[in-house]
Amino acid sequence: MLRGRIISTGSFLPENVVTNYDLERIVETSDDWITERTGIKERRVVNNGQTASDLAYEASRIALKRAGLKPRDIDLIIVATVSGDMPFPSTACFLQKKLGAKNAAAFDLNAACSGFIYGLHVASGLIKSRMHKRILLVGSEVISKFTDWQDRTTCILFGDGAGAVIIEGTQEKRGIYSTHIDSDGNLSELITLPGGGSMHPPSADSIANRLHFIKMNGNETFKVAVRTLTEIAHRTLEANNIEASRISLLIPHQANIRIIQATAKRLNLPIEKVFINIHKYGNTSAASIPIALDEAFQTGRIKDGDYILLEAFGGGLTWASSLIRW
Ligand code: COA
Repeated sequence: MLRGRIISTGSFLPENVVTNYDLERIVETSDDWITERTGIKERRVVNNGQTASDLAYEASRIALKRAGLKPRDIDLIIVATVSGDMPFPSTACFLQKKLGAKNAAAFDLNAACSGFIYGLHVASGLIKSRMHKRILLVGSEVISKFTDWQDRTTCILFGDGAGAVIIEGTQEKRGIYSTHIDSDGNLSELITLPGGGSMHPPSADSIANRLHFIKMNGNETFKVAVRTLTEIAHRTLEANNIEASRISLLIPHQANIRIIQATAKRLNLPIEKVFINIHKYGNTSAASIPIALDEAFQTGRIKDGDYILLEAFGGGLTWASSLIRW
């Protein structure tokens, strides 16, 4: 049986660090409050006009180099993002141009913070069906440009960054064992970026009403996140007939340390088996899982044969999970 396998990873974080103490000078908040409620200590924020395709390019270059591949070896580029360079063309096309990946087709995927696992779902299906041979999947976000730096309930949460993986087919007993995706459009109001689309096109009013910034009902999102993540993670384990105790590492979307802890507890996974880097980067949306995956692999937390469980949720609402055997 042919299945997709991640053969290489790469990530890129902008240099500029914004700490909770920096935010104390912008909005009425405190390092204590942010740390206790979210687990975040600092995040990266671009400060030199870098775009989502710039960050995606850096992460992709590293993943290609580690795989010993040239950009022309890639036949599909998928970029998961909600903070792309422009509404169109796609950030994936800008990335293709920057890489010189002339043999690839390229498109963006919008599933907000679940975008990377949604991308894994699409990529693994295209590999299994032999429609593509080698896919570059990137999560890249410059969320800081859509963050309302006057809104203390959201500006403390997000950060910029990018992570990339290269996926090929394998007949071996490893790779992407399964992917599971879900959404509920009835909960679309919980996290939005209302302005700039056909509902609220850019206008003097949309700017005056701050519609071009992220809006979120954090409390409600929190509750739905824990419930849906637990359910989809259990479903993923069942689909593969595997006990949670055999998972070597859970790599959750890094949105809030309390969501991460609550989900791990409900899965009966000790916190030592959970990869956490939220304190350094905050919520980097679609980039959070590929950045974490890259860091986990580079720091020796993932070894050949390990079962890795991924899970994410985000605007839509969307949520998703995947079991990988490394
Ligand atoms: N600093 C200090 N106080 C803050 C604050 C900040 N940055 N943000 C909110 N507060 C205040 C609120 O105004 C409220 O004050 P009040 O009790 O006087 O009204 C109080 O803190 C509690 O607010 P609440 O919203 O209940 O806090 P919370 O414990 O739910 O934490 C979030 C807020 C946003 C951190 C939390 O709900 C969360 O992380 N939700 C999930 C969001 C998420 O992950 N979104 C991304 C999806 S991919």
